[in-house]
Amino acid sequence: MTTPILRTDGLTVRFGGLLAVNDVSLTCEKGQLTGLIGPNGAGKTTFIDAVTGFLPDNASGDVLLEGQSISGLAPHVLAHQGLSRTWQTLELFDDISVRANLGVASERLTVGGAVRDFFRPSARHDRVAEVLEQLEMTDIADRQPRELSQGQRKMVGVARALVASTTKILLLDEPAAGLDKNETQWFGDQLRALVDDGYTMLLIDHDMGLVLRVCDHIHMLVFGELITSGTPEQMRSDPEVIAAYLGRSAGDS
Ligand SMILES: Nc1ncnc2c1ncn2[C@@H]1O[C@H](COP(=O)(O)OP(=O)(O)O)[C@@H](O)[C@H]1O
Ligand SMILES: [Mg+2]
Repeated sequence: MTTPILRTDGLTVRFGGLLAVNDVSLTCEKGQLTGLIGPNGAGKTTFIDAVTGFLPDNASGDVLLEGQSISGLAPHVLAHQGLSRTWQTLELFDDISVRANLGVASERLTVGGAVRDFFRPSARHDRVAEVLEQLEMTDIADRQPRELSQGQRKMVGVARALVASTTKILLLDEPAAGLDKNETQWFGDQLRALVDDGYTMLLIDHDMGLVLRVCDHIHMLVFGELITSGTPEQMRSDPEVIAAYLGRSAGDS
């Protein structure tokens, strides 16, 4: 087996007496879309926050990126090493173009990036153009986010995360929140296409329909614990999954 892009080994996050993430060991394989599901408060966002280095005082256990321990490294260092993320709240600059929104993201690079730009100023623009093309957003590149549909705005958020570094894995925290059924479907197809193009992603969502439809492998957290993992087919008939989402059929969104 190849080394997973991302692996946690006994990842635990405590907030005072609360165990928000409890001894979670899971993997995200290269070239796959991995889903992370679970009811509200299950610890999904906290998991991403810990993996991306935002909870140094609360987290314990190990996190490995391509087999190398990255525990304790600062968020900007991790971003530079290829760990990209989106946030649960999408904040775009509404008064500047899509292209400029991506340019701003790429400027959040480190000193190293700035030095590289100094020697090769076109590198940043190349990367923005490349991502715009990959996400088939070239035709909306000069429009402002305010003119776009909700689904397109969410894709700008994804594009921004991809531009920010040489992404090894993109961690998406409920990127489809607020989208209607059609937009969610379209958005899911876009993510799937990016993964089929070679990107590796972890998708957090409480929309079971979306996760079951687009992911290769799924992990479920309940009260901070990894309860079960499997393919969409396995998850559909898993009693733990059915119990956690009682009253909603697993095919619903
Ligand atoms: N900064 C924090 N301080 C204290 N408790 C927190 C903090 N962040 C999250 N929590 C708690 O940790 C648990 C998991 O939250 P969260 O990761 O946001 O869940 P999810 O994203 O699955 O809805 C919840 O009980 C939440 O109230
Ligand atoms: Mg959350």
